[in-house]
Amino acid sequence: MRLSGKKAVVTGSGRGIGRAIALKLAQEGADVIAADINAENVRKVAEEIKKLGVKGIALKVDVSKKEGAEKIFKTIKEEFGRLDVLVNNAGINRDAMLHKMTDDEWNQVLAINLTGVFFCTRAAAKIMRDQRYGRIINISSASWLGNIGQANYSASKAGVLGLSRTAARELARKGITVNVICPGFIDTEMTRAVPERIKEIILSRIPTRRIGKPEEVANVVAFLASDEASYVTGAIIDVGGGMVL
Ligand SMILES: NC(=O)c1ccc[n+]([C@@H]2O[C@H](COP(=O)([O-])OP(=O)(O)OC[C@H]3O[C@@H](n4cnc5c(N)ncnc54)[C@H](O)[C@@H]3O)[C@@H](O)[C@H]2O)c1
Repeated sequence: MRLSGKKAVVTGSGRGIGRAIALKLAQEGADVIAADINAENVRKVAEEIKKLGVKGIALKVDVSKKEGAEKIFKTIKEEFGRLDVLVNNAGINRDAMLHKMTDDEWNQVLAINLTGVFFCTRAAAKIMRDQRYGRIINISSASWLGNIGQANYSASKAGVLGLSRTAARELARKGITVNVICPGFIDTEMTRAVPERIKEIILSRIPTRRIGKPEEVANVVAFLASDEASYVTGAIIDVGGGMVL
């Protein structure tokens, strides 16, 4: 129960890694707002959270819209009165080779994966600065290093690093830490869509020779959200079985 009494928000928590994070934070004792664009999924996750004996609230929001992101923080103030942990996890991919990538594919990915993180981090920072405490954990990707077919995704995830490191510097004196997790290849619906042939190539490059589980990302989030990580800020943590080595 490392997060007993803490108030947390996890974006994109209707399924996959975000769902695992929301449940892990709840298992550790946090009350959680589960925010996602998919109302039905996030409703089910909030039910699962409540079964763990803490408060769980489902919110349907599009983080790429300023009003959507701000609705999360208005709700947290009304319901919980404070915000201890923000996990920016919502993200999409729209893969295409650069020469074939459409404006829409570029814009959608940047809007959700980078601008969405900006909207939520800015709104959270306002609350956390006043309370002089906060933990912001942003989910980037090993793809920030560059990956064929992912110019949009890679640019958005590299952008998250710049945003996070800057926020870490600005907010450190206010008792707020900002850290980044870069998952490698994790078993979710996002990666289930990858063709088998490509999956085999990726697997051959992972030293641990297996795909990661959402819970293995969630465990690292729980550590960063806890007081055990009080002196960790601006860190970029790979959770990918050594994929980037
Ligand atoms: N799965 C992987 O291997 C992997 C690797 C590296 C990074 N990531 C990152 O981890 C995060 C979660 O990925 P996942 O694999 O669980 O994906 P997923 O597609 O299974 O889940 C993403 C969730 O985000 C929600 N979402 C999408 N757009 C949204 C919006 N505009 N507003 C609010 N919610 C929105 C979706 O409804 C969904 O519930 C993403 O940021 C992704 O880029 C995943």
